[in-house]
Amino acid sequence: MPRTVLVTGGAGFIGSHTCVELLTHGCEVVVVDNHVNSSPHVLDRIAKTAGRPLAAAYRADVRDRRALAEVFAAHPVDEVVHFAAHKAVGQSVARPVEYYDTNVGGTCALLSVMHEHDVHRLAFSSSCSVYGDARSVPLTERSPVAPTNPYAATKLTCERILEDVCAHLPHMRVLALRYFNPVGAHPSGLLGEDPQGVPDNLMPYVAQVAVGRRERLNVFGDDYPTPDGTGVRDYIHVMDVAEGHRVALDHLDDRPGMQVFNLGTGTGTSVLELAAAFAEASGRPVPHRVVERRPGDVAALVADASAVASAWGWTTTRDLGDMCRDAWRFQERNPDGYTR
Ligand code: NAD
Ligand code: WQD
Repeated sequence: MPRTVLVTGGAGFIGSHTCVELLTHGCEVVVVDNHVNSSPHVLDRIAKTAGRPLAAAYRADVRDRRALAEVFAAHPVDEVVHFAAHKAVGQSVARPVEYYDTNVGGTCALLSVMHEHDVHRLAFSSSCSVYGDARSVPLTERSPVAPTNPYAATKLTCERILEDVCAHLPHMRVLALRYFNPVGAHPSGLLGEDPQGVPDNLMPYVAQVAVGRRERLNVFGDDYPTPDGTGVRDYIHVMDVAEGHRVALDHLDDRPGMQVFNLGTGTGTSVLELAAAFAEASGRPVPHRVVERRPGDVAALVADASAVASAWGWTTTRDLGDMCRDAWRFQERNPDGYTR
């Protein structure tokens, strides 16, 4: 019997790539998404990319317990991958309650409906942002956590709720995956990152500069204590993140209760290095100018990725060149994003 995976936020950037990965490995996939930050066109593209359809897709809010209960009643869900959340750090500072409501409220609603329907297996999207302003890198799962904004705080709050739920409900099997900086796109050029408005994040901004939608990249500070003075991050290809989830589901039973893992590559890349790699991959110039630091930014965030490697025998396989090439292919083929 193929297993049935419920993917919340399955139309989003990471969710859509994960749906393809699960479909191509024989899973039945059910999506719940309210499309607050994604286009419904993505659902057709998931099926086209995977070469087979989703079992079902529901337009519903994860906070809506009644709607979720209908989904669980209609499908024999074996496990849940919970991506649905708000993710914009700046917006979370302006609208913290909305972030707690969706990210923490949504997780609680999901947990209660899972419990009612005897579903005990969950992979949860956490974030490297829980580490805050890291004193030293690379970061292991035991490095101190200290969120510096409401978004990161909602992720840590969810981790703590999950830990407590696991401590009291012995059947629960939960993996919290702390992603570093997911970028890139599906190599087909059909799926990728499609931010609304001006991109907050570096890679989609650079891609829009290369395609001519924006004049130049603003580099947020070149006076950080890093080799070239610009911020260093651990960029990870979204297909490695997707594959990581597929592999993670096979390891939910390794231990009872909750496990926490970093999903990164262990390699740090500066803003200028990424812009240069993108220019090379696209064959287009990426002009830039240095501006003030962005408030709240940190100098460097890089994963120690050894825990998943030893626990699952799995590591990422795609490098910065692959990330830039695939992001560029998506940008070139979809210059205005998902218009259909
Ligand atoms: P995304 O915004 O592209 O995808 C999230 C999806 O969830 C969207 O399709 C959105 O419409 C949906 N959604 C939001 N609120 C919902 C609700 N109340 N009910 C139903 N659906 C809802 O984001 P993403 O980059 O794919 O991120 C996925 C997850 O990974 C999020 O939980 C995010 O916090 C986490 N994460 C992302 C990054 C990153 O850099 N992209 C890094 C670390 C962690
Ligand atoms: C990367 C680097 C910027 C844009 C965010 C979230 C984090 C996590 C991952 C969800 C930094 C610099 C950026 C630009 C620039 N998401 N930059 N010019 O801030 O590391 O992390 O995504 O969990 O929570 O905060 O990613 O892509 O915004 O920035 O110079 O126009 O690029 O200063 O050094 P960040 P980012």
